[in-house]
Amino acid sequence: SRKILMIDTDTAGDDCTALLLALRWPDVEVKAITTVAGNVPLPLCTRNALTTLEIAERPDVKVYPGAAKPLMRELFTAEHIHGSDGMGGANFPEPALKPEQEHAALAIIRLINEYPGEIEMIAQAPLTNLALAYSLDPSIAGKLKHLWVMGGANNFMGNDSPAAEFNFLVDPEAAHIVVHAGFNLTMVGWDVCQRNPVMVEEHFRKIEAMDTSFASFYMKVLKTGMELGLKRGGGRRISHPDTLTVAMAIDNRVMARSSRFYIDVEHKSELTKGYSLVDQNGILNKEPNAEVCLEADLELFREMVFSLLEQK
Ligand code: BDR
Ligand code: CA
Repeated sequence: SRKILMIDTDTAGDDCTALLLALRWPDVEVKAITTVAGNVPLPLCTRNALTTLEIAERPDVKVYPGAAKPLMRELFTAEHIHGSDGMGGANFPEPALKPEQEHAALAIIRLINEYPGEIEMIAQAPLTNLALAYSLDPSIAGKLKHLWVMGGANNFMGNDSPAAEFNFLVDPEAAHIVVHAGFNLTMVGWDVCQRNPVMVEEHFRKIEAMDTSFASFYMKVLKTGMELGLKRGGGRRISHPDTLTVAMAIDNRVMARSSRFYIDVEHKSELTKGYSLVDQNGILNKEPNAEVCLEADLELFREMVFSLLEQK
């Protein structure tokens, strides 16, 4: 059956391969891409999304730039993981495609109202655009078919602070608003891509040998992230949380195990801001507000990525 997706992204590295997967997968319609400041400043996120559309040969898909900073805080970015251009230092030429004028938050509201119950949204970046859209029109929470959030972490597995994952840490207030908004929400946390290595040296060798334009794009945009593993003494490796989340939305079997829990996001403490609380033992006695992904089928995920990258 046909899936209608919308993707909110701070386009850099893994975000780009996530977009490529959705844009090229059969029976998937990408209604819109919305960009938000996160990995890199907003103009670069938008530019990288447009570059990805050109590589994917999908000039028909529209890109709506959104929030240039978190709701209440200053932006901090992650060029050390994604390269100064967010594309592994590949320095792609300025894309010919241009973004839309309409603000991402307004486009989100308009499209969800135009297609109630039909759109699945993947939020793979700080949740600023969604928090803004929800604040302007709370009715969207009940009209979105499914919200897949790549963010947070189950059981203290932070990456950008000991307590928090990057997307929740950049805009903890936005994350707090979104998890309590009443969306049909699935949380895919950082821990899901840390239990087992997602892509390692042997997989990169296979991809390098493919000799297709998508494979070469993949190796370029993930270069900085991959090589961080080398510095740390391991081989090249990539975690792929965003691409994994898109894969789950496209094929639910990729989410091998999940359960419904009450979740919350800390936004007041300096020490633990962005921390995602998952009440796994039901201690708070609150209605679950999220499906929490506990395990991914990495084998199936890799098959999907390989079949994407093999395309000529
Ligand atoms: C998330 O942070 C970003 O660096 C990645 O794009 C991903 O969305 C992982 O914590
Ligand atoms: Ca991202």
